[in-house]
Amino acid sequence: MHGRSNRMRIAVLFALPVVVLLTTYALGQPPAEPKTFTTASSEIRYLGSAYCSLCHTQPQPQLKNSLQHVWLNEFTTWSKTDKHSLAFKNLKEERGLAMARRLGKDVLKAETGCLGCHSASVAEVMRSSTDKNQGDAFNRADGVSCENCHGPGEKWLGEHASSWWRTKSPAHKAELGMNDLRSPSIQAEKCLSCHIGNSDEKKVVTHAMYAAGHPPLPSIEVATYGDQIPRHWRTLQEKRDDGKNNPDYDPKAVENHLAYEGDQLERSKLAVVSAAIALKTSMALLAKESNSSAAKPNHEDVPGLGWPDYARFDCTSCHHELERPSWRQDRGFTSAPGRPPVVRWPSFVAALGVEKLATDDPKAKLLLEEMKAHEAAIDDATRAKPFGRSEDMGAAAAKYAAWADGLAKKLETSKFDGKLVTAILQRLVQEASETDLDYDAARHVGWTIWAFRSDLGKNLKNGEEVDRILVRISSELRLQLPTGRDQSIEKQLSDALRTMGEYKPTAFREDLKSLAPLLAP
Ligand code: HEC
Ligand code: HEC
Ligand code: HEC
Ligand code: HEC
Ligand code: HEC
Repeated sequence: MHGRSNRMRIAVLFALPVVVLLTTYALGQPPAEPKTFTTASSEIRYLGSAYCSLCHTQPQPQLKNSLQHVWLNEFTTWSKTDKHSLAFKNLKEERGLAMARRLGKDVLKAETGCLGCHSASVAEVMRSSTDKNQGDAFNRADGVSCENCHGPGEKWLGEHASSWWRTKSPAHKAELGMNDLRSPSIQAEKCLSCHIGNSDEKKVVTHAMYAAGHPPLPSIEVATYGDQIPRHWRTLQEKRDDGKNNPDYDPKAVENHLAYEGDQLERSKLAVVSAAIALKTSMALLAKESNSSAAKPNHEDVPGLGWPDYARFDCTSCHHELERPSWRQDRGFTSAPGRPPVVRWPSFVAALGVEKLATDDPKAKLLLEEMKAHEAAIDDATRAKPFGRSEDMGAAAAKYAAWADGLAKKLETSKFDGKLVTAILQRLVQEASETDLDYDAARHVGWTIWAFRSDLGKNLKNGEEVDRILVRISSELRLQLPTGRDQSIEKQLSDALRTMGEYKPTAFREDLKSLAPLLAP
């Protein structure tokens, strides 16, 4: 978190433009729209959340028009309730320090590999130390702050505060460095670069880090995780609902600029698109770290990482009790008996995305065949020798990642209405009730069911009975994250690990079997 001294520094260094901006705002006159733009986003600087705090701390009544669109208290939500604002601080708390000791490394040094996910991207931090013009308010201690998700602010800070900014295309905003988080795939790509990993951005949790004490990165469904940040924004539907009680609401001003159709179930769409992006992200991570010719290894600069890194395989395949009867023996083995399979919890829900597309166009069924072929290629490469034949795994994973990216793009431009979501919810429950899912995949399915269910609201028949079963599933799989800054991941870790260790697919399947008839058409 930034301190008062930081605010003072900005006040001195950047007072003029911001005061001009704030003053024009107070007078209700947005600055004139600039006409030309020529910027390459790679050169845009990060400013620091202290800037954003100037206007995004507390809503000003004179910004009535803007309040239809944004809450203007986002900084307060982030700094008071969002764990992301603790991400850097936590490196220096008990668990972070214990990890540092076990790794024998300074976790605050860029080369140790923690900062990419717990602060600004390492590349940015490095640029800032060589670039004398770096915005002075930029502060690593902000942790994961506004610009980590929204993009570096230098080029858009001034004009974005005008209501005409909303009318600009996502491409225009992106050119100036602002990420189009309204796009489900771009949003998911952002979150998952840290919540799964991205070696190009130097964001990788290695097995060495896990063994030193990093909490296992759980599976993630972006709509639910967004809720649990908790959200500092409204969905389009929520903005519209608010507008019903607001005489000033101007649907044109709020909705007209949107490149994404509003009359859809947004969270359901985000859940399915983000599954495809999660599959892409996991496979890209695998591809980048393997010695294939399709993807040159770049792990030399990721500290401590040698192929094959255990962290790319399913944790519980190695870390579990031996027991009898054994559900793993009953389930069978995807690669070969006794060889750990690679991480691929996203594929079950991603396959649902393919089925969604096939409801629009029967030809899309072919995609399912393609997906099966990609899965088989990964399995063959993993089976070939212990921990897989690296070259083949890399090549297969790179192809699968490209395919999943294509799937996400198709899903992003297809429509998710109530009828469709009702149908795929039923499908998901039915298919998952017939499959032995591992813990991460089961949670991913659980969160996705919740996202669909909450979007359907009163339109779901048997709603109350459905919810009773969902509450049970939620507690069995710990679907409720320790939301908020005051509920630490660290403190709940032993419980979380116990649930993970004791998980058996049978209970989840039974729950889903009792859910299925309630959803039948
Ligand atoms: C000078 C005041 C001011 C500052 C400083 C400021 N904002 Fe804003 N911001 C606004 C206002 C006002 C709006 C709403 C504009 C409108 O009416 O559409 C806004 C809108 C936004 C939006 C929505 C944009 C869109 O395209 O729909 C985002 C995201 C945002 N701000 C993020 C940030 C971040 C991140 C920072 C810090 C780097 C920041 N803002 C700094 C005043 C400010
Ligand atoms: C790929 C991104 C990534 C990297 C690299 C990474 N982390 Fe994390 N870290 C996360 C995420 C995401 C979480 C939250 C996990 C969850 O939701 O349970 C987390 C959680 C933590 C926590 C628990 C925080 C709490 O609230 O109790 C600690 C401590 C931690 N990381 C330390 C480190 C250290 C030290 C390093 C470097 C050795 C590191 N991390 C590297 C992404 C990363
Ligand atoms: C972990 C990622 C993340 C962080 C950190 C973050 N945001 Fe956001 N923010 C989002 C997402 C995702 C949205 C939803 C985008 C959408 O649907 O329009 C959003 C929406 C917003 C909006 C409303 C835009 C709209 O179209 O409704 C504003 C304003 C905003 N953020 C400002 C901020 C500010 C200021 C900070 C820092 C104090 C911040 N955000 C930190 C991810 C983040
Ligand atoms: C720059 C890396 C980064 C990005 C981008 C990012 N996160 Fe995180 N996220 C983290 C880290 C690190 C933590 C753990 C923070 C801590 O407790 O120290 C975390 C924690 C969380 C938590 C709390 C998890 C728990 O178990 O309580 C949620 C929820 C979350 N993130 C959701 C999101 C969503 C949704 C997005 C995208 C809109 C996103 N994150 C983007 C790094 C990131
Ligand atoms: C291929 C098998 C394998 C996979 C897959 C694997 N590990 Fe490990 N793990 C090991 C071995 C071997 C050790 C060293 C055990 C020892 O020192 O006693 C270890 C040690 C650990 C330790 C420290 C020792 C302990 O029991 O507390 C943790 C924590 C850990 N792994 C977490 C993970 C996580 C999280 C994942 C998944 C992201 C994972 N491991 C995947 C084999 C594996």
